[in-house]
Amino acid sequence: MTPTPPTSSASATDDDLLRLAIEVAREAGAFVVDARRSGVEVADRKSSPVDVVTQVDRDSEALIRARLAEARPLDGFFGEEGGRGASESGLTWVVDPIDGTVNFLYGIPHYAISIAVVEGEPDPQSWEAVAGVVLNPVTGELFTARRGGGARMNDRPIAIADAVPLSETLIGTGFAYSAQTRAEQGAAIAQLLPLVRDLRRMGTASLDLCAVAAGRANAYFERTLSPWDHAAGALIAREAGAVVKGLGDRRPDREFVLAAHPETVGELEQLLVDVGA
Ligand code: IPD
Ligand code: CA
Repeated sequence: MTPTPPTSSASATDDDLLRLAIEVAREAGAFVVDARRSGVEVADRKSSPVDVVTQVDRDSEALIRARLAEARPLDGFFGEEGGRGASESGLTWVVDPIDGTVNFLYGIPHYAISIAVVEGEPDPQSWEAVAGVVLNPVTGELFTARRGGGARMNDRPIAIADAVPLSETLIGTGFAYSAQTRAEQGAAIAQLLPLVRDLRRMGTASLDLCAVAAGRANAYFERTLSPWDHAAGALIAREAGAVVKGLGDRRPDREFVLAAHPETVGELEQLLVDVGA
């Protein structure tokens, strides 16, 4: 493969940045799938005993960081496995080198490389997402978006499902790594489940957002997400027609991320608040 030559931020278009993200995600995806064939072990535990990291997560982040730095030396970097680099161009790459690490560890073919490039501080309260890529390297499904350009899956335009009543809403969600938060989430879900079509806990937040984008779920919500979990997926879901927000007037943040159809998002948010989700 011919490496993408360095571009200054002034000359790179959003399309250039998206192309670079796709190229790097594909290379990292091939690396990760190949590495899994040789077996995977937990390398460390992070916020709790069930919040694990493998050496492949770290190596994938190092590969992504190196490729982006070669092509875009002035851009910042913000990765889950600790990679930090200040931006001199105004752009920062927000990266989850393996989203769905627990699925990866168990060999469940539902994990992703998530790469977004954002303008401004690497803070979801203020950044503007420019382009985003979420790749499931096992299935080859590639979700992409750039601001104002719509969302695509494997290069075909995608859109959210039509609005449905709450009782027919299929909702993706995920659970925190903290035992205390999980207990609260379980109690909330017990109240929510009888009121909606069903819930899905697939294990990869970025792909959950892409599922909303592709009409495979009507909505998604989760607490305690980190910026790299939703940076790319939120742009993809928005570009496919969803509202992606935090609680009230907030943008997506650690407290809450909700993605849903614009016509039903208000009602769903109220329900989630009422049940303490
Ligand atoms: C996790 C996954 C999971 C979500 C967690 C995330 P990781 O990311 O996206 O679906 O429920 O909140 O932390 O740790 O596998 O990169
Ligand atoms: Ca991860």
